[in-house]
Amino acid sequence: MGKTMTRAALLALLAAGVGMSEPAFPAGETPVPPQLKWSWQGPFGTYDRAQLQRGFQVYREVCQACHGIQRVAFRNLAEPGGPEFTRGQVQALAAEYKIKDGPNDSGEMFERPARPADRFPWNFPNEQAAAAANGGKAPPDLSLMAKARTFERGFPWFVWDALRQYSENGADYLTALLVGYKDAPQGVTVPAGGFYNEYYPGHIIAMPPPLSDGQVTYAKGADGQPAVPETVAQYARDVTAFLAWTAEPHLEARKRLGFVVILFLIGLTALMYFTKKKVWADVGGEIEDRPGVKTV
Ligand code: HEC
Repeated sequence: MGKTMTRAALLALLAAGVGMSEPAFPAGETPVPPQLKWSWQGPFGTYDRAQLQRGFQVYREVCQACHGIQRVAFRNLAEPGGPEFTRGQVQALAAEYKIKDGPNDSGEMFERPARPADRFPWNFPNEQAAAAANGGKAPPDLSLMAKARTFERGFPWFVWDALRQYSENGADYLTALLVGYKDAPQGVTVPAGGFYNEYYPGHIIAMPPPLSDGQVTYAKGADGQPAVPETVAQYARDVTAFLAWTAEPHLEARKRLGFVVILFLIGLTALMYFTKKKVWADVGGEIEDRPGVKTV
């Protein structure tokens, strides 16, 4: 009786699990961004160097006009675990940027070309200037954006995500945002300087659609074609990957270390087990020898 009931309950659970569909959202609310596949997902995931390099190109040619990545230094682009540009490339790149430095001996601030140790300068001198140039809303710094934006997937999805170690919600949101521009639905008025975006909370965003097909020319391969299509969807994914790296530049080292630690713990568990067996080996016998003492 008890067994049948347990089995019935298990079957019901299973059926519910199979029938689980992505959460539906009432019309008008912000939909949950679709879950995408990312190369750095899971315990062994790593960034795709070529993708990070393309993503940096998109950032530089498009987003940089408005957004900063002020936590990133030029030299970071050459470090292991990132886009891994060569030191020469980074030096040449840095030299194209101007850094405000000083004061010099006569007490004046001056501009000089950036060096690899400098951080990326922002196009605007301050937030107010940035807001004034963008319809009253300053474009936020993107260095940590992939970690700063996340969303609730609701029950049971958050349990499932925790079990399979899914932590790329921020990246899913960034991509969804970049491809999420639409005509406003009937009855919604978009104020001047605003744009309708399906995935932006509240839908009205001050950022004009930044990407368009063919806007960024990727390096051509041996066959004269770029390795990936030059489309909004692809640019969005590439720049998202780059921003995921800026938000977590040591992800690969962290995962490697985690793996070693787990191996060590497994080894230690085995050692402890055999030590315990050895230490207690004789004790059981002594108890058994005593008349009237029951062993369990
Ligand atoms: C013309 C200027 C401009 C360009 C170019 C631009 N943005 Fe923005 N972006 C903005 C502004 C302004 C906001 C603030 C929007 C608001 O607060 O309504 C913003 C906000 C954002 C946000 C934050 C959204 C949120 O959830 O708060 C992200 C992420 C973002 N931009 C990514 C990008 C990326 C990636 C690119 C390059 C592909 C890009 N932007 C290009 C002006 C720009």
